[in-house]
Order: sequence, then structure tokens, then C-alpha cells
Amino acid sequence: MKRISLVQVGFGTVGGAVIGQVLDQRERWRTSLGIDVRFVAVAGSRGAAVAEGDDGLEEPWLQALVHGRQTGEAGLNGEVSLVDALPSIAGSGPTIVFDAAAGEATADIDEAALKSGAGVVLSNKAPLALPLADPRSQVMWSHTGSRGRLMYEATCGAGLPVISTLQSLIDTGDEILEISGTVSGTLGAIFSSVATGTPFSTAVRDALAQGYTEPDPRDDLSGLDVARKGLILARTMGQEMDLDDIDVTSLVPKELAGVSVDEFLERIESEDHSIRLKSSDAISADGTLKYLLRWIPDGGVSVGLGTVPRETVLGALQGPENIVSFRTRRYDQYPCVISGPGAGAEVTAAGMVSDMLHLAQRL
Ligand SMILES: NC(=O)c1ccc[n+]([C@@H]2O[C@H](COP(=O)([O-])OP(=O)(O)OC[C@H]3O[C@@H](n4cnc5c(N)ncnc54)[C@H](OP(=O)(O)O)[C@@H]3O)[C@@H](O)[C@H]2O)c1
Repeated sequence: MKRISLVQVGFGTVGGAVIGQVLDQRERWRTSLGIDVRFVAVAGSRGAAVAEGDDGLEEPWLQALVHGRQTGEAGLNGEVSLVDALPSIAGSGPTIVFDAAAGEATADIDEAALKSGAGVVLSNKAPLALPLADPRSQVMWSHTGSRGRLMYEATCGAGLPVISTLQSLIDTGDEILEISGTVSGTLGAIFSSVATGTPFSTAVRDALAQGYTEPDPRDDLSGLDVARKGLILARTMGQEMDLDDIDVTSLVPKELAGVSVDEFLERIESEDHSIRLKSSDAISADGTLKYLLRWIPDGGVSVGLGTVPRETVLGALQGPENIVSFRTRRYDQYPCVISGPGAGAEVTAAGMVSDMLHLAQRL
């Protein structure tokens, strides 16, 4: 039986679901996969806890932490640094870190884990989108690839097999000719609504009310999240580029970038007219307006509004679903298409857990 120590960084929507799925399945993995996993450390933004004994953190404590019953995250210590603790954790046996936090701050933990010999699984895009000049970026990207210790399926399309498909196309010697898709569930929902005649501002407010957007919808509308996914796909293909190299068309007017969320939601009506015109033009051309991610070999990554023919899979897509289409030398006339829900706690967590199970075999 192979023992694997798990470290959970970030236990919000996705991280909480990761802990839940591991606790649910670990007994089965002992018999079906011959691996025995246990959480030995957990970190949130305000502190960390590291197990003292060999048995890892206790299940009721983890359950309570995830369900928020330990008010104020009692048991997490603001003085404990995972960066300092990782060499000793990883030194005592195969270790895998789940980075389900948000933002770049956890890049130090990811780097420390890799340098200590541990594996890292991310749903958090930001550490993988750091500039290449950042030494942590070099460490992380040097550990990607089919034999590496860093996996990141959930960073693009949540649980959908987007990254693994791309890696397998590359590993088998195919040539990628074009990648196109809609990889923001939020923007997918908004533009499906716009296509039926709903004003853009109403579609944004509806998406916020239905919980599709971030609390500040500008985080989605800026296109940064889609650009990060495009960057991750491009770097997966070995391209050395930074976020600055991506042509991003933001849907946030410059004058509304700094105002409060409420004021933004009131004043975003200013965009209704131009978006309605673009949508009508698309419809007259038998197409539909979408917020698209596109990569071509000589043109790099571009992110913004575009018209796609309605009869294509991409054009027919409705609501928050994601779709990524790989046109390659082998999949030329009919591209290789992956579609399905591109967000959600359970599917995203499952993408991370699946990466962890793959890494567990490699460590
Ligand atoms: N939700 C989805 O469907 C989905 C899909 C694909 C990918 N993702 C990505 O997965 C990540 C997690 O998403 P989520 O929806 O679970 O977000 P979330 O609910 O906001 O959870 C993020 C968690 O990360 C913690 N955190 C923030 N900074 C940290 C730090 N420096 N060290 C340790 N923990 C830190 C936060 O703690 P505090 O609450 O204490 O700040 C919070 O518990 C994000 O990067 C997101 O982009 C999400």
C-alpha cells in the first residue's frame, strides 16, 4: 500500500469539495488503487494547520473546517508557514499539494512543494499565469508535461479533459492548427441571453443574481480569466509568452473600471446599444455573438467578442456551457471538440482529484 500525504491550500467552494471527495473515496482507493491518502496539512488565507502525528488531520476536524463550524477557522494558526513546513512533510514520503486558492499568493507554496519533491495540483490559474521572468514560473512550468509533478486540468474548463487532451495530441505528434472556444461560463450565459434580445446590462445583472458571475462582474467581463486560460493553453504547447502578449478585448468601459459595483451595474447600460448592434449584425449573418478564445500558430492568443456561424457546435452552444475545439493535422475537417460545464464545485474538484490520482502513481 502506497501512502500519500495530501496538503490542501484553499478550502472555499472547490477546495471544500476536494476534501469532501477525498474523504468519501479514500477507503475505496485503498482496495481499488492500492493507495492510502490522508490530509496532513490545510492552509487558508489566514493561517495553516499541520498534523502532528503520522495519521494526518482528523476527519471530524476537516469536516468541521469545511462546513465552517469552527468559527474563525479555529485550529488554523496564522504563525504556521506551509512554505517552511513543506520540506519536512515531503521529506517523510510522497506528498501532493492541492492549490484551490485564488490569486498569485500561493505560488510560493507551489514552488516550495515542487522544490521539496512533492506533486502539485492546481485549479488556481494565477500562479501558472505569472510572467515567465518570475523564477517561480520557471520552476512550475518545468514540472508540467506528461511525466512532470505538476498537473492543472481544472484550470481550463473545470473537470473537462481540456489540458490532458491537448497534452495527448502533442505527445502523439499531432500538430495543433487552431484552438477556439468559449471558456467562460459567465460570458456564455450573458451572450446566450443577449442573442435572445435581452439587453446586455440586464443579462449581466441576471447572471450576477443567478450566481454565475464573480461578486464583482467586472472580474469576468474584463476577459482576464479567459486570457489566463488562453495563456495556460499556449504555454502547454511550449509557447513562451506572457499575459501582456495576449490581445484581450475587455467588456468593461475604462470609465467604469474604478467605480463601485452598484454604480457599475447602473451605468453598464451605456454598452447596451453597441452590443445590441453587434448581436444583430451577427444574427443577420446567420451567426451568433460569443466571447471567444482563439489561438493560431502565427497569431498567438486573442480574447474578445466575435461572430461564429450558428450551425457550428460553437455557435449552437447555449448558456454557461464551455466548449474547446482543437483543429489539428489529424482532426482537420472535423475538429476534436470538448464541451460541458466549465465551472461548478463538484466537477472542478473531480478534475483536481483525478490529477492527484495520476500523480500518486508517478510519485
Ligand atoms: N468555482 C469554480 O467552479 C472553479 C472552476 C475552475 C477553477 N476555479 C478556480 O479554483 C480556485 C478556487 O475557486 P473557488 O470557487 O473555490 O473560490 P473561493 O470559494 O473563493 O475559495 C478560494 C479559497 O482560497 C483561499 N485563499 C485565498 N488566498 C489564499 C492564500 N494565499 N493561501 C491559502 N488560501 C487562500 C480563500 O480563503 P479566504 O476565504 O480565507 O480568503 C478561499 O477559501 C480559484 O482560483 C478559481 O479561479 C474555480
